[in-house]
This record gives sequence, C-alpha cells and structure tokens, in this order.
Amino acid sequence: MSIDLRISPDQIIERYLSMELVRVTERAAVAAATLRGHGDEKGADQAAVDAMRRELNRLPIDGEIVIGEGERDEAPMLFIGEKVGNRQGPKVHIAVDPLEGTTLCAKDMPGAIAVMAMAGAGQLLYAPDVYMDKIAIGPGYARGVVDLDATPVENIQALARAKGCKPHEISVLIMDRPRHAELIAAVRKTGASIRLITDGDVAGVILCTEPEKTGIDLYLGIGGAPEGVLAAAALRCVGGQMQGRLILDTEEKRKRAHGMGVLDPARKYDMSEMASGDVIVCATGVTDGGMLSGVRFGPDIIETETIVYRSITGTTRRIFGEHRQFDKFGLA
Ligand code: FBP
Repeated sequence: MSIDLRISPDQIIERYLSMELVRVTERAAVAAATLRGHGDEKGADQAAVDAMRRELNRLPIDGEIVIGEGERDEAPMLFIGEKVGNRQGPKVHIAVDPLEGTTLCAKDMPGAIAVMAMAGAGQLLYAPDVYMDKIAIGPGYARGVVDLDATPVENIQALARAKGCKPHEISVLIMDRPRHAELIAAVRKTGASIRLITDGDVAGVILCTEPEKTGIDLYLGIGGAPEGVLAAAALRCVGGQMQGRLILDTEEKRKRAHGMGVLDPARKYDMSEMASGDVIVCATGVTDGGMLSGVRFGPDIIETETIVYRSITGTTRRIFGEHRQFDKFGLA
C-alpha cells in the first residue's frame, strides 16, 4: 500500500511518535496484567489508566483526549477533553482504551489489550460513550461491497460473491449478547459460520484484516462507540472497510452527542469519517489473544507484544519487548 496522498502535509504527525506510543500501551498493559485473573475489573482498569496517563504526560506532544474513560464529570482521569503530554510538541488528538476487555483481564480470558490511537487535531470522531452499530471487512474488496444498511443476508451474499466463495464459507464475528439474537439467526440462515466473542470488539474488528490467518471475514453487530472509533483507526491503517452508526435511542444520549458535535443522530459514519489524516494506532496484549500475546512475568524479565500501525505509510510493526527494569513499571 502506498502513502495516502490525499492527506495534506499539515495532517502528518511526527513519525517518532509511533515508537513513543509503544511505551504508553506497554506500561498500561503491564499494569493491568499485574491484576490479571484477580476478578477485580475496576482495579485492573484503574492500574492501566494510571500507567497510561503517566506515560502520556511524558510525551513531547500537546495532546487532547477525545475518546477516554468518560466525560469530565464521571472520569477523574483520561476524561474527554483532558490535556496530556508536556505541551511542547505537535497538537494531537488521542483516543484511549487503557484496558479494552476489563472482564477478560479480570477473568484471565483471551483478548484483553491496552490500546490507543493518535491523529492530528480534529481527525478522530468525538464519540460519546454509547453503543455503535458496526460492520467491518478487511482489505482487498471493492468499496461498498457491504453496507450497514443492507441486511445480514445481503451482506454475506455480496461478500461471498466478492471473495469468490459460497456464503457458508464466510465467517462472521459477533459479540455474544442477547441484543444480537435476531442478527445471529439471520446469519445462520445464510449458512455462514459465526465466531462469538464475549468482549473486546476492537480486536474483533481488527481480526477481519487478516482473514487467511484469523478465519474471520466480516464483523457485524453492536458494541461500544469509543471502541468503534479505535477499530476504525486501525482499519484505516491496514486498509479494510468499516461503517458505524451511533445508537442514540434516548433524548439524553442525543443531547450528549449533540454537545460533542454530532448534529445528525442517524448519521452513518464511514471509516475515514471516524479516523482521518495520519493516524497511529498502538496496542499491547494484556492476556493472550488471537491478535497479541499477553504480558509474561519472568523472574528477571517482563515480556510484552505490541502492534503499531500507521496509516500514512501502511506500516504495521510488531514489537516484542523484554523489560529488565521492573521499577519502570512500578514493580521493583
Ligand atoms: P470494557 O473494556 O469497557 O469492559 O469493554 C469491553 C467491551 O466488550 C468492548 O469491546 C465492547 O465494545 C463493549 O464492551 C460492548 O459493551 P457491552 O458489554 O455493554 O455489550
């Protein structure tokens, strides 16, 4: 994939930041992993938030959280609008999920990650903490082959045609939730197979980008909107397609979204409306999963696995960290 020349030079963020972000998600992941399997969702999340915030504040950026732990009155740290960084660098907007899959971490189940995205100011959608209806596929398909407004049957048939296979050879990833009963029944009618996940749909969407490895062709269903923006940012880097629509089913949610700039509550967002310009996405595994290995604690070494994507170059880097200075993680 070549550099996206539609991006103007002022949307390009400094490339050294890719590597800086690795430290941020590594620290958050290690902090959460110290509480892995302890049944303490809040504690693990707080540990990840504290570590991520500490590291973010060391970065040479003039950053603002646009997707974080919640709105200012409900989240003391990494709230939407919080300024982060040492204010000496470029103006950037940041989406964070210091522990994506709190339940997975608390129960030591596969797929918990620490994840964040960074882009130029104004390049990430301000998504309130509501649900989002999402559809995503990986790279290599003509634009618009699937659509959020088409039925699951239409989407699966179209994708099968585009892939050159039968609908029963398509695999769909869906979150295992009662709200998806009808969706699951509709997908089953096509003969497609379904992988159900209990949590963690940022990684769930990203699995569509490598169907030959992961076995997943299509993501369908409703998950968190902040997670939707993070997933869209990752897909922009690797070249898939995604659409999302906020679920603003109460007046209170519509007002809240309006206050964040969402003027049309029924709008269908395309991937590049959720994350545009030069975007960097970074994720470190907390527990072992299909995308990343979890943190390993040895007697003298902490091991981490991180993936960093950058949209403007289409680069994906996997970084295996071996950390010997435990004090850097507050673990001396
Ligand atoms: P948390 O890490 O905040 O617990 O989110 C996990 C998650 O599974 C997300 O991946 C997903 O988008 C969202 O929760 C779905 O929400 P719900 O659990 O309410 O269905």
